[in-house]
Amino acid sequence: MKNILITGGAGFIGSHVVRLFVNNYPEYKIVNLDKLTYAGNLANLKDIENKANYEFVKGDIVDCDFILRLFGKHHFDGVIHLAAESHVDRSISNPTEFVFTNVIGTVNLLNAAKNIWKDKPEGKRFYHISTDEVYGSLGNGGMFTEETAYDPHSPYSASKASSDHFVRAYHDTFGLPTVISNCSNNYGSYQFPEKLIPLFINNIKNKKPLPVYGKGENVRDWLWVVDHARAIDLIFHKGEVGETYNIGGFNEWINIDLIRLICCKMDEKLGRSKGDSEKLITFVKDRAGHDLRYAIDATKLKNELGWEPSLQFEEGIELTIDWYLENTEWLENVTSGDYKNYYKKQYNQRS
Ligand code: NAD
Ligand code: TYD
Repeated sequence: MKNILITGGAGFIGSHVVRLFVNNYPEYKIVNLDKLTYAGNLANLKDIENKANYEFVKGDIVDCDFILRLFGKHHFDGVIHLAAESHVDRSISNPTEFVFTNVIGTVNLLNAAKNIWKDKPEGKRFYHISTDEVYGSLGNGGMFTEETAYDPHSPYSASKASSDHFVRAYHDTFGLPTVISNCSNNYGSYQFPEKLIPLFINNIKNKKPLPVYGKGENVRDWLWVVDHARAIDLIFHKGEVGETYNIGGFNEWINIDLIRLICCKMDEKLGRSKGDSEKLITFVKDRAGHDLRYAIDATKLKNELGWEPSLQFEEGIELTIDWYLENTEWLENVTSGDYKNYYKKQYNQRS
């Protein structure tokens, strides 16, 4: 049996990755390590929590003694590292937390893997999950490839870029069997409603203003989270050690167009008059350092490992809206308590 550590498995993408691995690989023991910050939620994993090949461990990747003990106990054969502070706006109000978790936490995991694998690195794998935001911002043309030079602008992307550099340094210096992927914006079920799509679905549902940053002209490439999890499965098993793979949806949207699409679909689903939800659109002060455009060229992943997104965006966004409308208890739980304070602090100052 292989022992696999997945960090951040109670978060949005992590929970989809844990679910896929627990269901598809009964011969693996999956340990999900998560600190359960505001973004971590064990309710995301209710359907698999009692499976025999799954174990949850609550802990902080910044605590290096704890991490060394955990690796000493489980002797992991593979690590899929997703734990991170992940929201750009929070990185603007509290950058230091991003350095602790995203940089120091990653280095602690690298050290622990290096220690237990030093005599026999063959067959082991440290897989670091990163973002396209490390490449910076594009103008109207071009796409990010694996060769694009890093040019991060937000404290979030700077911390992810730094962690990517450490992962490559541990491969080059210590021979650690690492692999990295950089993915575009994900959407789907279980995403914390601080990110654009679930935030706007929830606000439309509650007839609250839709805070569009700047003129809504920024462009993002959107990928269904289940397709990201499929790519992670493929890269973990078939990706080449020392390599980087870009993952994207070949699916660019200007923010305001995407927002209008969501408004239109929500009107239909909620039985409201056409155009009702669009009236909630409110242009607010732009995000500081707001990257204009991200676009991922995922050709390498397609050509070398045969991966492609399985779902068209029109279908994915329908499924996603339906999920948030059906899972009212989940949504209400994550938007009670601290969320209200966050929302006030984040959005009152913009209006
Ligand atoms: P998320 O914020 O939903 O989840 C992060 C998880 O990490 C949470 O469960 C949280 O409790 C846990 N965590 C945070 N700090 C921790 C710590 N110190 N120790 C242990 N656990 C900790 O994030 P997400 O959107 O699922 O992103 C997961 C990963 O994918 C991140 O590394 C992110 O940079 C990357 N990524 C995200 C996107 C996206 O669109 N969301 C796109 C590309 C890459
Ligand atoms: P977000 O979901 O925070 O992802 P990222 O910043 O990592 O791409 O934001 C997606 C886009 O939506 C981004 O251009 C910022 C914009 N946005 C808004 O206009 N209003 C909002 O309230 C939020 C959260 C994001």
